[in-house]
Amino acid sequence: MNAVFLVLLFFVEIDSRQIFTSVINEKSPTEILRDDSFVAGLSTAGSDEVKVSDEWRKNAIQKLWNERELMTRTPLIHLNIPSMPNIDLIFKNESASRTGSLKHRYAWALVFWALLEGHITQNTTVFEASSGNTATSEGYMLNLLGVNFVVVVSYSSDTLEKIKEDRIRLYTSEIIKTYIGKRIERAEEEAKKRNGFFMNQFANADRV
Ligand SMILES: *[C@@H]1O[C@H](CO)[C@@H](O)[C@H](O)[C@H]1NC(C)=O
Ligand SMILES: *[C@@H]1O[C@H](CO)[C@@H](O)[C@H](O)[C@H]1NC(C)=O
Repeated sequence: MNAVFLVLLFFVEIDSRQIFTSVINEKSPTEILRDDSFVAGLSTAGSDEVKVSDEWRKNAIQKLWNERELMTRTPLIHLNIPSMPNIDLIFKNESASRTGSLKHRYAWALVFWALLEGHITQNTTVFEASSGNTATSEGYMLNLLGVNFVVVVSYSSDTLEKIKEDRIRLYTSEIIKTYIGKRIERAEEEAKKRNGFFMNQFANADRV
């Protein structure tokens, strides 16, 4: 039963990579920038400001694209069990990603989406509620772009949580602590109060 489950997971991954590749091939970054309707819908700022922010956005897209190339492929580990010759177990080693978890690609996609949708400019402060891995990876991506990032985590005396917090701090200057059930609410509230963007990894997963 477990073996069937793992094999399925593997195919899901292959499949999503194919979909992803075709999305990348469909529109290059420069085509996206040339899309008039897209740029027109983005800002009502004066023309000088638009020029500056277009230039910034073009660079930001390029930086994320470079990061994408560095990701290469997730290493796969094949495990053959002698007593089960008809079953191939295949594991993905997600800890080989640059921020150490499978959230690396997810965070890349979230940040890319927010950038293309115009939610992130050079002046945006991005807020996120997280227990660790997603915030670390998002922080890494936003750090590449030089965008401010504030993370809301829960109070914890747990060692594992402390390690995760230290990793988030590599990419974030501000961590807000609250009760575990209040993280999303707090991140949303802070983003509103400070005119930032709440990334909301939970609500926006289906958009990336
Ligand atoms: C997974 O990747 C990490 C980081 O590259 C490496 O240290 C580790 O040995 C790998 N694990 C396996 C089982 O290959
Ligand atoms: C964004 O920040 C830059 C540098 O701090 C500033 O020059 C620019 O006016 C800001 N743009 C907007 C739209 O706030």
